[in-house]
Amino acid sequence: MKFLRVLLILFVLPTFAQQGGMWIPSMLKGMNESEMKTLGMKLSAEEVYSVNQSSLKDAIVHFDGGCTSEIISPKGLMLTNHHCGYDAIQSHSTVEHDYLQDGFWAKNNAEELPNPGMVATLIVSIHDVTNAVLEDVLSSKSEAEKQKKIQENIAKIQASFPKEKWQENRIKVFYEGNQYLLFVTETFKDIRLVGTPPSSIGKFGSDTDNWVWPRHTGDFSLFRIYANKDNKPAEYAADNIPYTPKHFLPISLDGISENDFTLVFGFPGRTQEYLPSHAVEQIVTTLNPAKIEIRDAALKVQDGFMRKDKAIKIQYASKYASVANYWKKWIGESKGLKKSNAVALKQNFEKQFSEKVIAQGKQNEYGSLLTDFDKNYKAINDYALARDYFVEVVLRNTELLSLGFKIYQLEQVYKTKGEQAFTDRKNNFIKESEGFYKDFSAKVDEKVFEQLIALYGTKSPLAPEVLKNKDYKALTTEVYSKSKLTSYNTLKKLFEGDSKTIFKKLNKDKGYLLVKELADNFYKNISPKYDEINLQIAALQRNYMKAQLELFPNARFFPDANSTLRVTYGKVKGYNPSDAVYYEPVTHLDGIVEKYVPGDYEFDVPAKLLELEKNKDYGIYADASGKMPVCFIGTNHTTGGNSGSPAIDANGNLIGLNFDRVWEGTMSDINYDPEICRNIMVDARYVLFIIDKFAGASHLLDEMKLVHPKKQTAK
Ligand code: ARG
Ligand code: ASP
Repeated sequence: MKFLRVLLILFVLPTFAQQGGMWIPSMLKGMNESEMKTLGMKLSAEEVYSVNQSSLKDAIVHFDGGCTSEIISPKGLMLTNHHCGYDAIQSHSTVEHDYLQDGFWAKNNAEELPNPGMVATLIVSIHDVTNAVLEDVLSSKSEAEKQKKIQENIAKIQASFPKEKWQENRIKVFYEGNQYLLFVTETFKDIRLVGTPPSSIGKFGSDTDNWVWPRHTGDFSLFRIYANKDNKPAEYAADNIPYTPKHFLPISLDGISENDFTLVFGFPGRTQEYLPSHAVEQIVTTLNPAKIEIRDAALKVQDGFMRKDKAIKIQYASKYASVANYWKKWIGESKGLKKSNAVALKQNFEKQFSEKVIAQGKQNEYGSLLTDFDKNYKAINDYALARDYFVEVVLRNTELLSLGFKIYQLEQVYKTKGEQAFTDRKNNFIKESEGFYKDFSAKVDEKVFEQLIALYGTKSPLAPEVLKNKDYKALTTEVYSKSKLTSYNTLKKLFEGDSKTIFKKLNKDKGYLLVKELADNFYKNISPKYDEINLQIAALQRNYMKAQLELFPNARFFPDANSTLRVTYGKVKGYNPSDAVYYEPVTHLDGIVEKYVPGDYEFDVPAKLLELEKNKDYGIYADASGKMPVCFIGTNHTTGGNSGSPAIDANGNLIGLNFDRVWEGTMSDINYDPEICRNIMVDARYVLFIIDKFAGASHLLDEMKLVHPKKQTAK
């Protein structure tokens, strides 16, 4: 019997992602503390998260909704990634002061640059409100009714849960709807840019090295939180003061070695770790290939233009990088899922699951789960694919169509909410579209359109009638030669006059009419059915999660990422991506010189950095052998949103800054495999070296706390 159990655990473990996981900070004590200590952590769970005293969590900040940052000084100085600060850095850049190209370092507080609209959120406390959220929900008849009741309860609790007046309450769903947690948060609104290295350091390797190890990117930038005189959140004001945090992270100068304990603390966005095999198969065989093919076509067109034309290169740099980022991720993800036999692993687990259901007499509750998944994933297949075509072609990758879709939404507002609501939004839209046209080239977009619309028309299930059996070249020429959506001036003219006149003009525009047909097709023929089946799938997923929690009480399940604060931990570790290949866990400045291509847009290196390397002028930041470390990898389970998260040592000091994952492990959002999934971090010593030796901004080091934890324990 015991033997059998051991065998079962061995068999089951891989799909349970042990030594991976993104854990809820307020629940570490029961769930993780002993494992963390076994791995080397010297802190207690209470020192990581506490409501009563200051703890690590008070230094962890949700950066502008999408990334993570951490406070590293008593004056609210924050460290995050260069790619997280990219938009802000770009917005302060002009031809005369190109901070993307040259970097920027404020010499004092007065020189720090405000960023209207940017926010930074701290977590005050976390509370389990599951019972209150699910109150009276069981009596609901349909799934839709149930969700409605849940939303009502959430709104009520959020409005009444005790908090200070400058704080907010936010409830989030965990374990696919089996648990609800409320977060009391504080959001700061005066965030200023303090410093950034040039892109040749902060984005070194660019798209070629993106998602790849070995890596040599100094992907960091510095911001500062400002507060009002009471140290509370406030809108921007010139006389706001640097925020005094409850905690800030000291920075270790002792660095890391292979097998050292690491903890990454941040805001991972979304994982799908508990999908059934049917869903994973659909991603690998149907959805990812379609999305990759669409982006592949769009990127090739843009790249062709960008290589020939400098102005287009600047216009499309940021858009290209963001489309390429997930294009490349999906390719890696599909490869990894295939190579790791993720579908077969899931099927194996499902077999054991079914046996357990029978052994425990739970057929009534869980007996039909897997066949229901099968049925629903088959039923949703064409709708999910058609939806991806719509999203990728219309909303994401053809600019004229995505702009047209915004107008389509305006027309809906006009029809449903009336004249005034439309006029309110119209002016905003016109202002916003000025920025859109600044980075828009009709000739680039026309070529993208021609490719993408053909893919949509020939390959999407439930393709819109207008796109079936068309001469796509002729359609493209017609739209781009006649539509007024191709330039800012003609767009502005379209919007002149009263609403009636505006819509009369719009509804004669070839481009707008096409958008309307595509959007109408989507809302009539695709999204209702998609939403209906998807709601069923979500209900199944909730029940499946509940079943796993119940049937495998000894396994530890972490809730899928949902942009809430999480702790993940592991070790500094190399990996073996393929036969006979082993990757060491640390890269060095020498590697930057090896990759150096003078004048190249991805691999150029600043002269100053080359000089520092030549003279081995590393100050106190070199490792024990005199080399300058740049990046390192570890077994921490991270995802998008973890960018900018601190890597923390066993004693609570900062040792690095998370920014990416390795190519062979990008499948970790769906199938985390501790053998080959690794997160990539910049070494904190490289960050300090760049600030001090490269930028000469040593005044910033004065406000940080640099420590030697290893030397202290050695004494
Ligand atoms: N792959 C990383 C993440 O998902 C970094 C992306 C930014 N860098 C880039 N070259 N696009 O966001
Ligand atoms: N680069 C990602 C981010 O921006 C992190 C990741 O996906 O590993 O959050």
